[in-house]
Amino acid sequence: MRTNLVVAIDGYSSCGKSTIAKALAKKLGFIYVDSGAMYRAVTLYFLRNQVDVHQEAAVAAALAQIELNFHARDYQTHITLNGEEVSEEIRQMPVANFVSTVASLKPVRVEMVRQQQQMAAVKNIVMDGRDIGTAVFPDAPVKLFMTADPMVRAQRRFDELRSKGDQQVSLEEVYESLKQRDYADTTRVESPLIQAADAVVLDNTYLSPDEQLEFAFQLIRSKQPAEEVTITYRDTTY
Ligand code: C5P
Repeated sequence: MRTNLVVAIDGYSSCGKSTIAKALAKKLGFIYVDSGAMYRAVTLYFLRNQVDVHQEAAVAAALAQIELNFHARDYQTHITLNGEEVSEEIRQMPVANFVSTVASLKPVRVEMVRQQQQMAAVKNIVMDGRDIGTAVFPDAPVKLFMTADPMVRAQRRFDELRSKGDQQVSLEEVYESLKQRDYADTTRVESPLIQAADAVVLDNTYLSPDEQLEFAFQLIRSKQPAEEVTITYRDTTY
């Protein structure tokens, strides 16, 4: 039986993981899964419902109320939280500032990982996040670990927020939020962000999107014969 192919991309906040993951998925005909969006959507639910993260029972009860779905159209990912499209709202600062706290909770991780593993049971996927190559798919044949200069990352995220109409946010605020998330993500007890032993590092501080795509594509080609990569992508819900 042929197992589905997983391309695992991990790395620091705002270092362009989703850009390359989307481009790769498109080139390969795979599904793109933004695992960070799942943690962000859960965080939005926790914020809206004032879930006390220190109360285990409250966290478990909240998780039982949450249904997440991805809807892929034209290789853009849209995520719904209990049927409501929240793709824009989960990128805003309130969620960004709280997501690492929510993502550090074991019950949250257990549930997200379960859902992520299910997705690969039926499709070839490119998934990005913090623990994809270490905890979610430790056997993934292709693993990338991405990094870039922190100031360059902050500038990119700042430009993105501004282009989406957030005129209030400052570059310093984005930089601080990013630094705090990197710290929280790399030092937490549950599945911290670390480079898998068999991951290949991609520092994209000075690389264009095309150069990164070429690098990743060659890596996949070196590990996976072309005939084993099948086209499975359709506009779909997963
Ligand atoms: O990738 P993105 O920046 O959207 O992720 C938001 C946050 O979700 C991260 O800072 C991290 O705390 C959490 N996350 C995680 N594990 C993943 C993906 C994201 O803990 N696989």
